[in-house]
Amino acid sequence: ASAQSRPSKTVLLASPRGFCAGVDRAIQIVEESLKKYGKPVYVRHEIVHNRHVVSRLESLGAVFVDELDECPDDRPVIFSAHGVPKSVPAAAAARAMNFLDATCPLVSKVHVEAERHHANGKHILLIGHKGHPEVIGTMGQLQAGEITLIETEADARDYPPQDPDNLALVTQTTLSVDDTSHLIDILRERFPTLALPYKEDICYATTNRQAAVKTIAAQCDLMLVIGSQTSSNSKRLVEVGEKAGADAAYLISASDAIDWDRVAQADTIGLSAGASAPEYLVDGVLAALRSRYDVEVKEIQVTKEEVVFRLPRQLLPPKKPAA
Ligand code: F3S
Repeated sequence: ASAQSRPSKTVLLASPRGFCAGVDRAIQIVEESLKKYGKPVYVRHEIVHNRHVVSRLESLGAVFVDELDECPDDRPVIFSAHGVPKSVPAAAAARAMNFLDATCPLVSKVHVEAERHHANGKHILLIGHKGHPEVIGTMGQLQAGEITLIETEADARDYPPQDPDNLALVTQTTLSVDDTSHLIDILRERFPTLALPYKEDICYATTNRQAAVKTIAAQCDLMLVIGSQTSSNSKRLVEVGEKAGADAAYLISASDAIDWDRVAQADTIGLSAGASAPEYLVDGVLAALRSRYDVEVKEIQVTKEEVVFRLPRQLLPPKKPAA
């Protein structure tokens, strides 16, 4: 008997997608701390913006809290990949806590830039999304009022400078590449001496994931991006997909959030995952599609990533004494 033929779908799988080096490192910091110090290990804020990652680490013995005052003095505490205001490590040091900083090195780089500009007497404009932990962390590198948040085109047009020739710009790392360059154009036209990042602050992972989605979007009837609602870079991927010509684009947390009516109407489905979404969620979505359709998967790779970040010194194996 011949197998009943099933409807077919083409999946264009974006590459790079999913975990970036900063997320990988942050998760490893929690895992290695649990191994080294036992449980519980406290983590201030979601280590990365993904519920699946957080639940798994909870099951291993990590305790997630909103603020430092929820942690005991005598257990290790880890700061999330998004970075923290200076007041947080200062408070931990004042309590003589063992703290580990999982701030992505590319976020720390922006912190250092902001401080350098401030030391040079400049007022700083930060392009970013209000309330996002990374923005709170970056603004918290300096005193209140020393950084102004620019969120919208109106903010960029209307910002009233005290000293228009003494401004510097930094950005959040997970913004839309295109929207940000538009805001930068507006600011540069108003403030020709505006000091810009030496190399842009939007990180390699954000840039590459957006480029991959942009490459496949126009061929897609439907674009699915795996990620959490709280994840800035994942939400930007959905917007990029829409703008670059996908008929529809959605953020889904995992395979159980797939809208099968929409899938039924699509022949070609684009699939990507935000920087905090584990690859097994991608596998889960592909398996769910295969359970209903004949699926042909074409991986479209726009570039290869080889970035790896070192763990903090506290977690590296002790140096062997010289022979
Ligand atoms: Fe870092 Fe970019 Fe990932 S800033 S945490 S490498 S999304």
